[in-house]
Amino acid sequence: MKKIIITGATSGIGKELALQYASKGNKVGLLGRRTERLEELKEEIGERAYFRTLDVTDHELAEKMYTELIDEMGGLDMMILNAGMGRIQMMPPWRAESKLIEVNALAFAHGCHFAFDYFKKHGGGQVVGMSSMAALLAHHRAAAYTASKHFLSNYMIGFRQKAKRVEADITLTEIRAGYILTEMTERAKGMFWVSDVGKAAAQMIRGIEKKKNIFYVTKRWRLLAWVAKCVPEFIWNRI
Ligand SMILES: NC(=O)c1ccc[n+]([C@@H]2O[C@H](COP(=O)([O-])OP(=O)(O)OC[C@H]3O[C@@H](n4cnc5c(N)ncnc54)[C@H](OP(=O)(O)O)[C@@H]3O)[C@@H](O)[C@H]2O)c1
Repeated sequence: MKKIIITGATSGIGKELALQYASKGNKVGLLGRRTERLEELKEEIGERAYFRTLDVTDHELAEKMYTELIDEMGGLDMMILNAGMGRIQMMPPWRAESKLIEVNALAFAHGCHFAFDYFKKHGGGQVVGMSSMAALLAHHRAAAYTASKHFLSNYMIGFRQKAKRVEADITLTEIRAGYILTEMTERAKGMFWVSDVGKAAAQMIRGIEKKKNIFYVTKRWRLLAWVAKCVPEFIWNRI
């Protein structure tokens, strides 16, 4: 039985991971801004669920809430940093752009830093970052989103290197997801290879259990990742 904190557990991928992990007998600590959704999920899961309302951009409060959940669950084995937002727009207002960067990059980094520090002091654990194929591809209508996921990816590489230099056994796993049907993508156009959230979460759990450094969900996105790495930038810029 693992003790797992999941940020962004009120909908989509985070909620599905919470349900599937809890159904396997694990304890789940749920976080998100929408309290009523957290209450509903707690009701659905039962005694193995713990929750706190949190806007992850409030770092002081986040530390308090992570610590309270860890105390209530009796420890922490895995931190799944899934909270995120997306926006596809040619020229978003700066306020929206900066909020996205705050959530997807800065709050992610804070959660990763917190969890690594905890695991270093307690012998080990696993940090999971919810990244995207977008980490590999810049896009003029999603510059902040693609850059935020690229940040997540590189930050985790640095922490993987740190993990090799400490006594504790710490795994850092980055999930590069393709299109998954959730609230974030419900109005998106031009999607392909779309997965339902149940199938995607089940694949994620299998990859996490194998303690992979990086993996793609669904698996076929690995092919596009390979293409993305081979195609020169001047060609991407014309697509
Ligand atoms: N769906 C896809 O195709 C896809 C593909 C690649 C990667 N991803 C990534 O997967 C993650 C989950 O997205 P999703 O598709 O499941 O979308 P979603 O259903 O919209 O879920 C987003 C989650 O993030 C939480 N969140 C957003 N801002 C927050 C904040 N300031 N503080 C705390 N929680 C916050 C939301 O909770 P509250 O609103 O209750 O706070 C919600 O639980 C994101 O990081 C996204 O970038 C998704």
